[in-house]
This record gives sequence, structure tokens and C-alpha cells, in this order.
Amino acid sequence: ASTLGASAAQTGRYFGTAVAASRLGDATYVGILNREFNMVTPENEMKIDATEPSQGRFSYSNADRIVNHARSQGMRVRGHTLAWHSQQPEWMRYMEGSSLRQAMLNHVTQVASYYRGKIYAWDVVNEAFEDGSSGARRNSNLQRTGNDWIEAAFRAARAADSNAKLCYNDYNIDNWSHAKTQAVYRMVQDFKSRGVPIDCVGFQAHFNSGNPVPSNYHTTLQNFANLGVDVQITELDIEGSGSSQAQQYQGVTQACLAVSRCNGITVWGIRDSDSWRASGTPLLFDNYGNKKAAYTSVLNVL
Ligand code: XIL
Repeated sequence: ASTLGASAAQTGRYFGTAVAASRLGDATYVGILNREFNMVTPENEMKIDATEPSQGRFSYSNADRIVNHARSQGMRVRGHTLAWHSQQPEWMRYMEGSSLRQAMLNHVTQVASYYRGKIYAWDVVNEAFEDGSSGARRNSNLQRTGNDWIEAAFRAARAADSNAKLCYNDYNIDNWSHAKTQAVYRMVQDFKSRGVPIDCVGFQAHFNSGNPVPSNYHTTLQNFANLGVDVQITELDIEGSGSSQAQQYQGVTQACLAVSRCNGITVWGIRDSDSWRASGTPLLFDNYGNKKAAYTSVLNVL
């Protein structure tokens, strides 16, 4: 097939992108979005600060613009994200203890209920583990409510929407030999053994020269899949340019295709100029919306 989405669909997968509501008036952006992609992740619009700006008052207008656009085009939606230490609204940031636990669970319940039936997969919990060699949980206000906060969030999400796949999402868990990868693996293994409702693991996949695509990526994805969860590449971007960047994009694509439970790939933006990265050219389309070598290298193997 001649587009990313249609090609991915040939093997039952999807190809998605992060979308910013503020760019939905940009004709070049929307043209590429509608042509190439069949899954959408709101880049910021479903985060806690966006959906619950003051406690108990929910705001869905920007997220709805993206969801409605996606649905009108026959695209599915990955929800991102229900519980996270970052992009918390001011009122939540300084909360601790049982009041925070309650507020977090209420947030999960309200947002997942509001979008029930419209979400393919939720990133229920994002980035809960520490970087480096400790394998520990990240110290955050949510973590300080008790080590069981993650499973509590997953149970609340399942109760609110029994059809969405429920994912744990993180970065730097791509290399099988890293402590963080092992720690997340053990958590998923534990959740599966105790019946905590988890369906998938999202690999953000933000790569650069200091954090390159690992040669054991396929092993990582397969090992997680062997626990009985789906795996998804959720926020792919790769610093660089030309054939080096193209090869790395192709490697990530092939790693996913080699794992039957790898459902799909989402890139974190459309054109280089849409990237959250302050500088560089990490995406599949250049600033003018032209296809880069990386685009072709992905399409060629899908
Ligand atoms: C980023 C967005 O792209 C930016 O627009 C925002 O300013 C900060 O967050 N990991 C995640 C995403 O899970 O939510 C982040 O998105 C990128 C890193």
C-alpha cells in the first residue's frame, strides 16, 4: 500500500501520530494526517492539567476536537495519559497522601468513563520508574501515596471502560539489558500473576545519539509480549537525518513487525517542525510536509 496506515493495516497493525489540537487548522498538517495515519494520540489534550484544570471540573473541548476529527476520518485514538507525575494541574501538584490517591482515582474514573467506547488503548500510567541502574519507582507525589498506586489506577480504569486496552507507558525501556526495562518487566509479570488488569506496554521510543535504538529491541518487545500483553511503540522519534536516521526508523519498524503482539507504531508528531524537541529533525516529514528518507524506509518494510 502507498501510505503508512494502509500498509500497517495489511498485517493488522496501525500507524499513528501524536496530534495537537492547535494544528488542526493547518491544511498541510491535516492533509498528511488524513492521508497517512489511522491512529491518533492527543499530544497534550488528555493530560491531567488539560482535562481537570481545577479539581472536580473537567474540560474536554480540545481533546474532543482531536477525538472527533479522528473518528470522522475512521482513525482510532490512543488515550494519553490518566496518571502521571508530570503535567499535573496546580491543584494536584502539591497534594499528597490519601487526598491525592482519591483525586487520582477520581480523575481516572471520570476521564475513562467520559471517553468510554472511543478509546482503543489508554496509557493508564506514564513514566513511573526511575532512570539509571536502581530499577526503583520514580519518587513522585503519586508514588508516595503507596506502592500500589499503579495497580489501583489500572483497576479504576478497567471499571470505567472495560473495552479499552490498558497500557503502562514509559521511555528508556527499549534496551533489554537496562535496569529500568527489567523493573517494568517484573511489574508487568507481577500484575499478570495477580490478575491486575493490564493489557499492553507502551514503549515511548524517543531516540537520539545518547540513547540509540538498541540492537536487542526485538528481544525486548518479544519478552514483554511473552508475558501475555500487547506491545506498542507509542511516541517514536529519532534524532538525526538522512540514511542513518532512515535505517534506525526501519529497524524499529522491523522489530515491531517481528512480534505478533506488537499492534502498531505511533510517531510523536508529523513534520519536524511539529516535534516537541527544541531542535533537530526527528520525524518522518520535513518542515514543508515532504516525505523524508526515513518515511520511505519505514513504508518499504511495512
Ligand atoms: C510532550 C509534548 O510533546 C510537549 O508538547 C509537552 O510540552 C511536553 O510533553 N513523554 C510523554 C509525552 O509521555 O506526553 C511527552 O509529550 C513527551 C515525553
